[in-house]
Amino acid sequence: MTTTDLENVSPPVQAWRPEDTGKPTPERPSVGGIFRPDIMAAIEQRIAELDTDLRALSLDIHEHPEIGYEERRTHDVLTNFMDKQGFEVERHYLLPSQTAWKATFKHGRGGRTIGVNSEMDALKGIGHGCGHNLIAIAGVAVACAMKAAFEKFNISGAIELLGTPAEEGGDGKVHLLEQGAYKNMAACIMCHPAPGPKGSVSLSSCLALHRIQVQYFGHTAHAALSPWEGVNALDAAVLGYNNISALRQQLKPTHRVHGIFHEGKDWQTNVIPDFAEFVCYVRAPTRAEVQSTLKRVLPCFEGAAMASGCTIKIEDYGATHDLRQNKALGDEVANIVRSKYGSIDYEWGIKSASTDFGNVSYELPSLHPGFAIPTEENGGNHTPGFTRAAATIEAHYACLDVSKALAATGVRVVIDDRFFQRVRNAFEKDKIIRDMIV
Ligand SMILES: *[C@@H]1O[C@H](CO)[C@@H](O)[C@H](O)[C@H]1NC(C)=O
Ligand SMILES: *[C@@H]1O[C@H](CO)[C@@H](O)[C@H](O)[C@H]1NC(C)=O
Ligand SMILES: *[C@@H]1O[C@H](CO)[C@@H](O)[C@H](O)[C@H]1NC(C)=O
Ligand SMILES: [Zn+2]
Repeated sequence: MTTTDLENVSPPVQAWRPEDTGKPTPERPSVGGIFRPDIMAAIEQRIAELDTDLRALSLDIHEHPEIGYEERRTHDVLTNFMDKQGFEVERHYLLPSQTAWKATFKHGRGGRTIGVNSEMDALKGIGHGCGHNLIAIAGVAVACAMKAAFEKFNISGAIELLGTPAEEGGDGKVHLLEQGAYKNMAACIMCHPAPGPKGSVSLSSCLALHRIQVQYFGHTAHAALSPWEGVNALDAAVLGYNNISALRQQLKPTHRVHGIFHEGKDWQTNVIPDFAEFVCYVRAPTRAEVQSTLKRVLPCFEGAAMASGCTIKIEDYGATHDLRQNKALGDEVANIVRSKYGSIDYEWGIKSASTDFGNVSYELPSLHPGFAIPTEENGGNHTPGFTRAAATIEAHYACLDVSKALAATGVRVVIDDRFFQRVRNAFEKDKIIRDMIV
C-alpha cells in the first residue's frame, strides 16, 4: 500500500490564470501552476549563483569519502561552507561521533521552521557509492535558496539544516531524533539519488527494516587430528545462510532477506572455528510484514544451530520504519517538477532500500524524493559504477533541479498557512493508515 496511497497525488495540472478570477491574491491555493513564481525565480537564481561552488563542494566530498560516524573532514567542509553563507553553525552537534552539525537561519519575527537534511557518509571500499555527496549539497542548496527567498521577500521563519551522519547502518537521524534535533521543525525535506529515467523524481516509499545479529558458539579442535572433538560454528552460520536462501523463494518480491558473515576472530584453516557471526537484514513494505517475515527467518538460524550442535545467540541490531512520504508535500514537489524539470514516478527511486529518515517521517511531516542520475549498466546504488555516476555533471544538475523544487516547497510550508494545514492534515490522515497496518 505504501506506493498506492500516493498514486493520485497530482490531478491534471490546470494552469491558474489571474484573469479567470479577476482578483489574484498571493494567498490563493494554487491548483496547478506554480505557487508564487516570484519566489520560484529567486530560488532558481540563487541556486544558479551557487552552482560552481556547489559543484566544487560535491566533488570535494566525493574525493574524500568517509564512512559513517567518521565524517570529520566532511563535517568541517560543510560547516565552513554554511558559515560563509551566513548561517549560524553548531559544529559537533549532539552525537558522540562529533560529526553531526546544524546550520540555522532565522529571519523576521516568529514563523514556522522548515527542516532540511544533508547526508554525508560513504561506503567502506566503494566511496560515495550511494551518492551522499549529492545529498549533502542538495541540503545546502535547499537551505541557501530558501534563505535568499526569506531575505528577498522578508519572510518570517527559520531554516534548520542538519548534517546527519551514518545513514548507512548507523541510524544517525534516529539518534538525532531521539535527542530532539527535529523538535522545532514544522516539516523536514531531503532527497536521494538513484537510477531512473532522465529527469524523473520518485515519490515511492522505502522498506521497513529489522537487523539481527546471529552468533554461533561451538568448540575448537584440530581440523585433521581430532575433528570429532569439534563443534563447528562456521558450519552453523553457513547452514543458516543456506536456510534463508531457500526461504527467499517463498517470500514476496517486495521483501528482502540478506546478510553477511562477519570475519571470525582467530579463524585458521586447521582449527575448527568455535565462533561465527552472521548479520541479517529483514525488509518489507510495512513493519507488520517485517515482523511476520522475521518469524520465518529466526527458525532458519535456530535450525542451523541444532543441526550443528552449536549454541546460538540472536540479538536485535537496530530497526527503521518504512518511509511515509507526506502527500501534500509530495503533491507540491510533483507539481513543480512536472511543470518545470521532468516527471514523477513511483517505481524507481530507492523503493526497495531503507533509510533512517523513515523514523523521522513517523514523527513529523516529511518528504524524501528520489532523483534519477545517469548510471552505467549494473551500476545501481552501492557499486563503484554508482560512485562514478555520483560525480557526473548530469547528476549534479539533476540534484539541483530537485533541490529547487524542495526549496520552493519548503518556503511554502513557512508562508502559506492553508498549505501547511494540508500538510498537517495529510500527516494526521496517514497516521491512521499506518497504524492500521502495524
Ligand atoms: C519585514 O517584516 C517585519 C515583520 O516580521 C516588519 O516588521 C518589517 O517592517 C518588514 N520589513 C520590510 C522592509 O518590509
Ligand atoms: C535449516 O537448516 C538446518 C540444517 O540443514 C535444517 O535442519 C533445518 O530444518 C533448516 N530450517 C529451516 C527453517 O529451513
Ligand atoms: C525507529 O522507530 C521504531 C519504532 O519506534 C523503533 O522500534 C526503532 O528502534 C527505531 N529505530 C532506531 C534505530 O532506534
Ligand atoms: Zn543512501
